[in-house]
Amino acid sequence: QKILRLAIIGSGNWGSAIAVLIGANIKRQPSIFQNEVRMWVFEEEVNGRKLTEIINQDHENVKYLPGIKLPDNIVAEPDVVKAAQDADMLLFVIPHQFVSKTCQTLAGKIKPDASAISLIKGLSTETGKIGLISDIIKNTLKIECGVLMGANVANEVAQQQYCETTIAFRNLRHGEKYREAIQTDNFRVSLVEDVTWAELCGALKNIVAFGAGLIDGLYGDKAGNTKAAVIRIGFMEMIDFAETFFPGGYRGTFLESCGIADVITTSYGGRNRRVAAAFAAQPNKSIEELQTEMLNGQQLQGPGTAEEVNAFLKQKNAEDDFPLFTAVHRVCKRDMKPQDLIAQLRDHPVHR
Ligand code: NAD
Ligand code: 13P
Repeated sequence: QKILRLAIIGSGNWGSAIAVLIGANIKRQPSIFQNEVRMWVFEEEVNGRKLTEIINQDHENVKYLPGIKLPDNIVAEPDVVKAAQDADMLLFVIPHQFVSKTCQTLAGKIKPDASAISLIKGLSTETGKIGLISDIIKNTLKIECGVLMGANVANEVAQQQYCETTIAFRNLRHGEKYREAIQTDNFRVSLVEDVTWAELCGALKNIVAFGAGLIDGLYGDKAGNTKAAVIRIGFMEMIDFAETFFPGGYRGTFLESCGIADVITTSYGGRNRRVAAAFAAQPNKSIEELQTEMLNGQQLQGPGTAEEVNAFLKQKNAEDDFPLFTAVHRVCKRDMKPQDLIAQLRDHPVHR
């Protein structure tokens, strides 16, 4: 049996956290996986040293996952082609805005029988229509691509707290291989076939979590019921969006970790929530300024996804059918006050 080689394409907060699990996990399975895992690092200098050098010498991603040791079989590689070219299994985990360019660099340079999984939460508007990131990977690299989506705040996963995730693959045999590489006692995987809705859950929940964060910023922790309303209505818009524009999925997918659980954890403990709260509390600051001040190079996905979804809804003349998604986008653009989000809940179609 062929011993499989993995590569991690990305090394931000989530890429580094998943590397912690995978590195240790595949060490225990030498008959299935090669020990070394190359991790593509978008090179930068940190405290006068290259980040790849820091990771390979000190086994810590001091910028994106400080305080957590990476296993020594995780090898940082600044050249994305070198990181990916020998791999049988490619794990994509970069902010969604960089996917197309990265895939174009890799096209024709990877093993033709490789497969991929996307851990990326976001959507693509590359073709002028809204589309899935896993489709960009699949179509550019001409390989099968599933997704891993779940209630997985990276720092908590890296600390090996108990959590769950959802892996979705149309070909479940591929999914099983990824589960073997990723599942641990404290990181439990459910396997489903509904790639499209699992991925939509992961992307759309960032808009909802941003909305929930706005309520925190406006009212502190004294508005639990209001925040729950945002989460509930947002969750219903997620389902409605999937059913209207990507029909054919399973409602049960929304009850997996990638659905309801991820909406909850991101609305309480995610970066989108945190920056949204600051955005609502500081009307003179833009999202970009707050991201720079608060996230040390990490990238928010919610406001970008809200913008992409809004452009699509406009095209479909359907903005009014998704009042929460639309309002979050307008608030992000400072075209609407955060306070006015409440009016959208009050007049929402679910109450008519
Ligand atoms: P991050 O927010 O830490 O982003 C920073 C990363 O982007 C760094 O590795 C940086 O080097 C890289 N980068 C910057 N400019 C780049 C460029 N031009 N090209 C390529 N890379 C560039 O990243 P993350 O947290 O690992 O998020 C990646 C994806 O995983 C996102 O879609 C996110 O929604 C998803 N996700 C994140 C978490 C989490 O808790 N962090 C959990 C689950 C899913
Ligand atoms: P944030 O990007 O808001 O931190 O969400 C992380 C996440 O996707 C948790 O599952």
